[in-house]
Amino acid sequence: MGTTSRYRAATRMSAALSLVALVAACSGNGGATGRGGTDDYPGRNITFVVPFSAGGPTDTVTRMIAEPMAAQLGGKIVVRNVEGAGGTVGAGEVAQAEPDGLTVLMHHIGMSTAPALYEKLGYQPLKDFETVGLVTEVPMTVVGRKDFAPATLADLVAYVKANANKVTLANAGIGAASHLCGLLFQTAVGVKLQEVPYQGTGPALTDLVGGQVDFMCDQTTNTSGQISAGKVKAYAVTTPQRVKSLPDLPTTAEAGLPQLQVSVWHGLYVPAGTPPEVVRKLSEALKVALAEPRVIEQMAKLGTAPVPPEAATPQAHRTKLEEQLGTWAKVIADAGVKAS
Ligand code: MLT
Repeated sequence: MGTTSRYRAATRMSAALSLVALVAACSGNGGATGRGGTDDYPGRNITFVVPFSAGGPTDTVTRMIAEPMAAQLGGKIVVRNVEGAGGTVGAGEVAQAEPDGLTVLMHHIGMSTAPALYEKLGYQPLKDFETVGLVTEVPMTVVGRKDFAPATLADLVAYVKANANKVTLANAGIGAASHLCGLLFQTAVGVKLQEVPYQGTGPALTDLVGGQVDFMCDQTTNTSGQISAGKVKAYAVTTPQRVKSLPDLPTTAEAGLPQLQVSVWHGLYVPAGTPPEVVRKLSEALKVALAEPRVIEQMAKLGTAPVPPEAATPQAHRTKLEEQLGTWAKVIADAGVKAS
């Protein structure tokens, strides 16, 4: 069954369910729709799909909010890593899942870059998903292996210009945030480097610390520990202001590369056709999780912060996704990059 007809079938099903819920509510039984209705949600374990390897930034953010969300929803949340193709394999799997609220995708800016990068993407972000709410917007850092020659971002720019044919740049696959940041770096500097794709920047950072690859862009939620431990060279942070938890790290603008500015917004998605009441319950649970002192503290330690409650809503998230799809389509077209 193609996406469109499945989407229509799910929409008909969702409309039927909403009608049943409406009839039940009018019949004065308190809206209980019986087993499997939205009142019973979740009723079973919820799977949060992370489209990158365990131990990376997307995985870290997901596990931060999973427990408090589960407590709020009165169920159990299981995190499952579905890697591949810059996050598009995991996203594609969720697009095809039952629209019952039991399969949720955590994804980031890559949801808005993939359509411009992949000719045959197995899903359409705005059509095959419901947005649940934004989660956090994470700064990126430019980091190099400890014994990499360049000492500063300016040195790195000069070095890659002189050695473009032998410098290796790690990322988590075409469509990943690390890929996008690397693309922006290469466009700003005017070089084409040898990219080394991983299933996530968790394993990429392990190789960087081991000296197997020269440098990469990655989120503070992954690199903060290794930067503080002196296990990698940190060149800059890609946000307009410095990151409180990395006060000595200059911004790209301060370090002479103002064009390299990007931060990685994250959101939760469910398959299109998921009942609105289920989407609402997930969004409410997300807001509660993002207000948890422990989550706020964990995020602060890793250079980021929860979005405000008004951004953790389906509409705010959808507005962000619509705007970002337009923004990156142009940047990527101008860069002439496509997933082979
Ligand atoms: C990326 O887009 O680079 C991902 O965030 C990497 C990851 O989460 O492993």
